[in-house]
Amino acid sequence: MIKIRPRRIRISENLRSMVRETNLSVKDFIYPMFVVAGENVREEISSMPGCCRFSVDNAVEFAKEISALGIPAVEIFGLPEYKDEIGSGAWDMNSPVQRAISAIKKAVPDLVIVGDVCLCQYTSHGHCGKLCGEYVDNDATLELLQKVAVSQAESGADIIAPSDMMDGRVAAIRDALDTKNFVNVSIMSYAVKYASGFYGPFRDAAHGAPKFGDRKQYQMDFANSREALKEAELDISEGADILMIKPALAYGDIVSKVRAATNYPIAVYNVSGEYAMVKAAAQNGWIDEKKVVIESLTCMKRAGADMIITYHALDAANWL
Ligand code: PBG
Repeated sequence: MIKIRPRRIRISENLRSMVRETNLSVKDFIYPMFVVAGENVREEISSMPGCCRFSVDNAVEFAKEISALGIPAVEIFGLPEYKDEIGSGAWDMNSPVQRAISAIKKAVPDLVIVGDVCLCQYTSHGHCGKLCGEYVDNDATLELLQKVAVSQAESGADIIAPSDMMDGRVAAIRDALDTKNFVNVSIMSYAVKYASGFYGPFRDAAHGAPKFGDRKQYQMDFANSREALKEAELDISEGADILMIKPALAYGDIVSKVRAATNYPIAVYNVSGEYAMVKAAAQNGWIDEKKVVIESLTCMKRAGADMIITYHALDAANWL
């Protein structure tokens, strides 16, 4: 006779819900938004069906919808009006990002605003920092990132999220924020960010693809996992408040290792290519979008994430 029967506690939905170890909630989501110059712009990104680039006026209206769904936070990415060698549009207070942050903060004060700090959308060469020949000059880039972070905090960002992967940037940004008295602006560092093919649609959405080479000199090698712990430890020691791991879908092992090694909150970034794959398969009728999205997001939490930056946030909020 079989005495121990795991199936007994799977017999009804209520029973399953009582023994469920992981619960997905709308409060787990951060929605990434792309803002552009102009007025009344709402253009769909072709490789990311359902995601749009918004002008500031429409971004504010959309932020209201996001907040009404119960989603607690947005992350703002921008497309600048001009590009140059050092990416100075990234700290221009008249750029779409800075204007969107302040307009959204004013219209929806409770919505947490995360500002993405990077230069690749703003530099003429598409790399995440200042170039010295073909090398991204780490230390010279730090000063620029400080300016971007301060400009976003001045606009009203609650959280600064550096995604450039320069060494020492968390300490540099913390220092710059504190000097300007933004002691309560948090840092969510892209602590563990891999050089990934899954960023393809984003680079198309934000016009941020490198004009030569790739990002392997600064983003991590996807073959490495011990290095993830080293990066996480470093960012904690430099003053990060929340650690991010990116991408998410194929990186559950990394999330789980970092989870075991630290008590800091962990965010994962369910990136553009992961979103595009699900959308494409769903549009072909090959998968059930709702099932696959809820499963993927729940598994990211199961791996150890506390929050998920995801383009699926609005759909998932409606489904939950
Ligand atoms: C900018 C940045 C990228 C993403 C977020 N911030 C692209 C990159 O590093 O090439 C990717 C996000 C996504 O794919 O959804 N450095």
